[in-house]
Order: sequence, then structure tokens, then C-alpha cells
Amino acid sequence: MYLCVLNQPTGGMKTDYLVIGSGAAGLSFALKAAENGEVTIVTKGEMVEANTNYAQGGICSVTYAPDSFEKHIEDTLVCGAGKCDREAVELVVRSAPEQIEELIRWGTRFDKTPDGQFDLHREGGHSEHRILHHADLTGAEIERALIESVKAHPRITILEHHFAIDLLTQHHLGEIVTRHTRGLACFGAYVLDTETDEIKTILAKFTVVAAGGCGNIYNTTTNPTVATGDGIAMCHRAKAITKNMQYIQFHPTALYHPGERPSFLITEAMRGYGAILKLKNGKEFMDKYHPMKSLAPRDVVARSIDHEMKIRGEEFVYLDVTHLPADETRKHFPNIYEKCRSIGIDITKQKIPVCPAAHYCCGGVEVNSHGESSIRRLYVVGESACTGLHGANRLASNSLIEAVVYADRAAKHAAKSIHKVEFQEGIPDWDFEGTAEAEEMVLVLQNRRELQAIMSNYVGIVRSNLRLERAMKRLAIIWQETEGLYNRTKPSRELCELRNMTAVAYLTIKQARECKESVGLHYTIDYPPQK
Ligand code: FAD
Ligand code: SIN
Repeated sequence: MYLCVLNQPTGGMKTDYLVIGSGAAGLSFALKAAENGEVTIVTKGEMVEANTNYAQGGICSVTYAPDSFEKHIEDTLVCGAGKCDREAVELVVRSAPEQIEELIRWGTRFDKTPDGQFDLHREGGHSEHRILHHADLTGAEIERALIESVKAHPRITILEHHFAIDLLTQHHLGEIVTRHTRGLACFGAYVLDTETDEIKTILAKFTVVAAGGCGNIYNTTTNPTVATGDGIAMCHRAKAITKNMQYIQFHPTALYHPGERPSFLITEAMRGYGAILKLKNGKEFMDKYHPMKSLAPRDVVARSIDHEMKIRGEEFVYLDVTHLPADETRKHFPNIYEKCRSIGIDITKQKIPVCPAAHYCCGGVEVNSHGESSIRRLYVVGESACTGLHGANRLASNSLIEAVVYADRAAKHAAKSIHKVEFQEGIPDWDFEGTAEAEEMVLVLQNRRELQAIMSNYVGIVRSNLRLERAMKRLAIIWQETEGLYNRTKPSRELCELRNMTAVAYLTIKQARECKESVGLHYTIDYPPQK
């Protein structure tokens, strides 16, 4: 069971900073915070299992004239469809160059031209070339550098295969808490060691949720299997505020390769390089939808592909790069070249079959300009957070930079008050009483699949009131069954993930139903876009 205040506290493990997640947000926070305290990172798999590690295109920053902060700000605002928080946009764009320097200092290598300048890519919605990259493996390079730095740091403890279940608040002291409770604070988390099945009470002066996104609530996603929305769900249960969950970004060009999970991404940088979207019959079609054609903003491209696939009854369109020099293609996109070759496609000679896949969660836990949530001592950074930067649609390659900028902000903010904060006493250990060994794991798997089907069928790229209502009714059954199972069995990673996916799916549908307009990534036939 979730809580038993009668259970005696043992004191638990103590750490100044508890960081949940080992992607760009969590690791960069840890490196900064370790300058003034002991840091413990928990991550549910191997460290490297994170969306960060899969990022291909790159990371945005203004680095040269004629590009300017104003242009990057304007592109972000336009892409966000009027829903961005201008202060957050300014903050990220203007802080980006400094944080890029930090990444380089930690060992990240970005590609350079022969004359020593950054080799910059361009992606959809960007008016300039401003994407720093490491071939088409930028995320893996950033993750490598961060992991090496974190492992070398004497004040950082890393706990792999540790699954954070729930955040500790006054609720665990027996108090009734709501989203309006004044002084609601976070004292750490209950964490399941998935190798021993022990649930540890980890007490922290500050807790940082950096648990990434939730692509796995959909049937097809570019996100690795760890992205089940745990961070957003546990903050929601702890009574933090979430927002903008209706804005789920679908990447237009995931490799069409049925049965593969996650879907392999074909980076947007390939369209920036000159690749063209075509129908199965070989004809171009994006000129019907947007003046920027294949390089239109991501929401427009994804919707256009979805529309063409639906009217033609086809499961994919093509991305064609065969008209460009083969050597250059292989040089810029070695990872994509090899992946496609491994399934029998030579991208320098054959078109690549692609279709949209769930990719990024623009919403999340609402935070202020320091990454602080509405709960004291709880920071949320990276994809789990909603800073206001993305508005209704994220500009490509703006998320990695957002993660490191806000991790820096949060670390600096927490450092100012760490000396005044005490560990919370009296938190009970997890109570296993009344719970049995996990039963019928096949039901958990079936419900996970059903949930993914509900979200893909009714809460995808195009929505309607009826579809959302149907989704909510069907989700309610899964929620009931999952809660029942959770209350009578010992927690497992699979069951907790399903519980979190249910919570995040619920928030997505609820906030989509509340959004009575088509804007950015939320497109509904009941409220057509204003012309
Ligand atoms: P993540 O990197 O996802 O890290 C989350 C961590 O939390 C993981 O280690 C996970 O295991 C851990 N975790 C989750 N739940 C728990 C739990 N319950 N307990 C313990 N640990 C937990 N963005 C760009 O800016 N540029 C790009 O080119 C780009 N390309 C992308 C390509 C792909 C295929 C994908 C999937 C995303 C891409 N993105 C890109 C988005 C970007 O990668 C992510 O938004 C960003 O990496 C998020 O970083 P993060 O640290 O917040 O989360
Ligand atoms: C891509 O490389 O197309 C992904 C970029 C992003 O999601 O920001």
C-alpha cells in the first residue's frame, strides 16, 4: 500500500539533493549542485537509457551573425503559436551560449567546419542555421560527456535500476494535502531497487524531478521505453500543478518499420539538408500545405502526412534524399545511413518510408524561472517540466538547451538556501502489509497496450470532442483496474509505469478537453483553426 503512517521510520538514506533521472537535465543539474552538496542520482535503468541519448538533430544556440537572439526568440514564439511565455523564451535563448560552453567544458564535442567554426544545421521553423550537432548522434555525445563527468565526481552517488515511485510530502506525515495546501513541501522519494525489490526511503533537502517525457502512452513513439511520464505523474499525485499536456508533439518522420519500438527517428535536419517528402507515387505534396514545404513547422508537416495517409489509406510516405551527393549524405547522417542499410534501404539510392510518431511532451509540471514547482523544495527540469518555452508547439532542438538552462537555474537557486534546510523527520518507511506478490503481470501488459491504443486512436494528431470523451471513458476502466492491482500487490516497475501512464494519459485527455480551440499541436475538428 502507498502509505501507512503507523510504520516506524528508520531514518532512510539522506542526501542533500535527490535527482530523479539521468538525462541531460538530471546530469547537468547534478554536476552543478555537487559544487555545494552531496548529490544522489536515481535512474530506473542503465544511466544511458534516456531520451537525451536518442537525440539526433542537435541543440540550439545563436553563435554567429547574422543570426541573433531576436531571431531565435521570434522563431520560438511563432512556432509556439502564441502560447509561449516570452520571459521563458528570452531566458533560454539568451542563456544558451553560456550553457553550450558548459557542455563543451564537460567534454561534449560539436562538429566544426575546417575553419574552426561550428558546423550548424537548420531544422523546421528556424530562420537561420543555428543547430550545433555531433553528426546525427548529438544526444548520445552529450549523454556520454555528462555521464563521464558525473562518474568522476566524488560528491555524486549514482543508483542505477532504482525506480522512483512517489514523492514524499506532508501526506506521508498523515496530513491531508491538496493543490492549494500552503507550505506543501517535498522531502525526498520512495525508491524501488528493482534488483532487490527493496523500497528505500530517500530523504533529501531538495528533490529534482528530471524524469523526461511520456511518448510511451502512444502506440508508436520515438522515445525509448523508459519514457512513461513517471515524473509528471508522481508530481501530479504529490499535488503539483501540471499544464499544457494537450500539446503532444508528433515527429513527422519516424522510420516506418512495423514492430520496432521505439520508432527510429529520421532527423528533421535531413529535411534542412534538402530531403523532400513524397507520396508513395513519387509526387511531392507539401506545397499544398505550407510555403516552406518539407521544412514547414513540425505540427503542419505531421498533420499533412497524417491527412495524406488517411485519404489514401497508406501507412507511410517517403523522404527522398537520393538527389543529394551520396558522400555528403553519409558524412552528415552516418547513424541513419547505417540503420536504414541494416534493414535493406540504401538512402543514397532509395527513398526512406516514414510516418509520424509521438515524440515530445510540450506540457508538464508548471515551474517558474528557477525550475521550482508549486511544491517547496521540489524542482522539475527538462521534459517533465512546463517552463512556458514551447507554448503550443516546440521549435526543433529547443528542448536539450531548455534542459541544461533550467538545470543551471535550479542548481543556482537551490544553492542559495541549502544551508537553511533540514531533513524531514518522521517519514514512515514503505509498508508492504496487506500486499501480495505481483499477480497476473500479463494483465498489466494488456492494459498498457490498451492504453496506448486508446491514446493513438482518439488522442492523436487530429482530435474531436467525441474522440476525447470516448478516450476518457475507456481510460477510466484501465485506471480502476490498475489502482485495484496497485493497492493489493507489491509494487513492480511495470505496474508503477502503467499507473503513471494512466495518470499522464488522463491529464492529456482532460487538458485537451478543456482546450476549446485548435492551436499548435492540439488540433480538433470541433474547433477549426481561425483563418
Ligand atoms: P531524459 O533524457 O528522457 O531522461 C529522463 C531520465 O529519467 C531517464 O534516465 C529515465 O530512465 C529516468 N526516469 C524516468 N522515470 C524514472 C523513475 N520513475 N525513476 C527513476 N528514473 C526515472 N531535443 C533536442 O533539443 N534536439 C534533438 O535533436 C532532439 N532529438 C530527439 C530525438 C529523439 C529520438 C527523441 C526521443 C527526442 C529528441 N529530442 C531532441 C528531445 C530531447 O531528447 C528530450 O526532450 C531531452 O533529452 C529530455 O531530457 P531530460 O533529461 O528531461 O529527459
Ligand atoms: C530531430 O532531429 O528531428 C529531432 C529534433 C528535436 O526533436 O528537437
